[in-house]
Amino acid sequence: MRQVHICEVGPRDGLQNAKHLMSTEAKKAWISALAAAGLREIEVGSFVPPKLIPAMADTGEVVRHSLTIPGLKVVALAPNLKGFQRAVEAGAHKVTFPVSASRKHSESNVRMTPEQMVEEVRRCAQVGGAEIEGAVSTAFGCTMQGAVPEDDVVRIAVSLAQFCDAVALADTVGYANPAQVKRIFSRVQKEIGGKLEGAHFHNTRGLGLANALAAYEVGVRNFDSSMGGLGGCPFAPGASGNVITEDLVFMFESMGASTGIDLERLFEARAILTEAIPQEPIYGHTPQAGLPKGFRAAA
Ligand code: COA
Ligand code: ZN
Repeated sequence: MRQVHICEVGPRDGLQNAKHLMSTEAKKAWISALAAAGLREIEVGSFVPPKLIPAMADTGEVVRHSLTIPGLKVVALAPNLKGFQRAVEAGAHKVTFPVSASRKHSESNVRMTPEQMVEEVRRCAQVGGAEIEGAVSTAFGCTMQGAVPEDDVVRIAVSLAQFCDAVALADTVGYANPAQVKRIFSRVQKEIGGKLEGAHFHNTRGLGLANALAAYEVGVRNFDSSMGGLGGCPFAPGASGNVITEDLVFMFESMGASTGIDLERLFEARAILTEAIPQEPIYGHTPQAGLPKGFRAAA
């Protein structure tokens, strides 16, 4: 039984910030290999203006391919109603919206204030057609605004919980530390209970795994991560890669918390990634060191 649920966000968070474009065919092969390794949820792209992020121009086709993979929950990011409509039309099962708790990041990322963005997501929820996740971005600090008041994070999460199916907290720029993670997740949990599902960490200062473990210890069981540690928001200066899927899976499996993901097959998916964008730096301790002798996955 899966005790920890991992959503691979490399095809979206990873490729939106990569210097090199991945072909549509390579994206499809990579996503199929990730699913074959046991990932049951993949954020396969975003529905943003193609001029703004050319790497996401083929998301419709990538969603349609992903829908042919049995048992896979296909997720896409949207920044507004138009993006949501495109996602629903393509058939995405779930749509994630970035709702930044930092005013400056929100205006830079989606050209809306946090309050306007909450209203945009509410409109999408009223339209319906897919599961909706509200992700509170820059929930642990912002490179433009600096500190982000915890009260702002809680207020936005509470608003989103009124009409979203799930709420996540995201450390967009890698500012979080484990004590802060425990404190803020616990505060938000107290307000919205089980609606708080996901944790999205970036590894910018090397604390991605420590933060994921801290969230696990306060009851979080849904994590985003990116193969090879790709990732980062192009509209948040200094943002870099997500917590690395390979290392996150290794951490949980070696602790005895099953992810349902086969590490050897995950390394095969990594080979497709490195072949498709060979110039891009790809990270990961576990794939480089290999699995420990006698390693056994969690039952
Ligand atoms: N998909 C495709 N086209 C879109 C779109 C979408 N989701 N949203 C808007 N557009 C088009 C409009 O139709 C319009 O086209 P036109 O010039 O041909 O008339 C143009 O883009 C500008 O629309 P507007 O509503 O004024 O958008 P904007 O320029 O104020 O930008 C966002 C707002 C939200 C679309 C943009 O800031 C955005 O996509 N942000 C997301 C960034 C991101 O992906 N960050 C990383 C993930 S957290
Ligand atoms: Zn991110």
